[in-house]
Amino acid sequence: MVNSETLRLPSPIIGGLKFSWTGSPRVDPGFRNYIDKKYHKIILVVDFIIASGATGAAAIVEACELFAHGNARQWLKVAGEGKAEIVEQRLRERPSPERGIVTEFGSFVGYSCVRMYRCSSGETRILSLESDAIHVFIARHVVIEARCSQGVEIVPGMAHDSVRRLADDWGTNAAIFAFMDHRGTRFHVEWAHLQQLRAFAPAATFLADNTLKPGAPINLWQFLHRPSRECAINWSVPEFVSDSCEDWMSAWNNHL
Ligand SMILES: C[S@@+](CC[C@H](N)C(=O)[O-])C[C@H]1O[C@@H](n2cnc3c(N)ncnc32)[C@H](O)[C@@H]1O
Repeated sequence: MVNSETLRLPSPIIGGLKFSWTGSPRVDPGFRNYIDKKYHKIILVVDFIIASGATGAAAIVEACELFAHGNARQWLKVAGEGKAEIVEQRLRERPSPERGIVTEFGSFVGYSCVRMYRCSSGETRILSLESDAIHVFIARHVVIEARCSQGVEIVPGMAHDSVRRLADDWGTNAAIFAFMDHRGTRFHVEWAHLQQLRAFAPAATFLADNTLKPGAPINLWQFLHRPSRECAINWSVPEFVSDSCEDWMSAWNNHL
């Protein structure tokens, strides 16, 4: 993509990629505008991180937050502030912290997986599933710059396909914590798939974001009607950098 007519990616991201174009592709201007608009924000985030010189998990997390809080108050769809505290609290409550796999659905720029890796003091392996190829490049770059690549893997593909990696590579009962942050209308489907794969460890913890807004109605309904609903919790929590926007995060524990 270094020579792409369609999308300019910051050079540290495409540095390791080799492309040999034969001639300039003819790109429809409407398509170029669409791509520019779609990725404009995250290219700015990466440029901001690079310009800040941030390396290491703490500095990378801080750079993302500074970007979001900056003069332009650029909204970033990451689980920051109150949401990040809930993610980290649930992560700390996972069974067998020294073993098992943490799975994230939706890496975006890699913010939450870097935070989770930092919170687990590098003890836990994190698989973060991401369907958008540009987000995969960016999240991998951010994870490398955060010095977390030893423990964090960004897995490309639709979550319903790539989640099989969990059972294939790590066997059954390996997932100790799953954080779903990709698409509310898919949470219940992914959950059922994880159960079918027997991916969850006993007493594994599960957390879903954005269950009120944009919403995960089927997931919430199933959640509240589960036999083990005493283990279920909803939190009302403001959206990151949007204090007036109420959202929910929802969590429950796997059956013991
Ligand atoms: C809200 S963002 C994730 C934010 C991230 N967890 C954080 O807090 O830093 C949602 C991400 O999920 C990805 N996504 C959406 N549907 C997906 C699917 N079916 N499989 C995998 N990733 C998906 C999107 O491309 C996007 O990058």
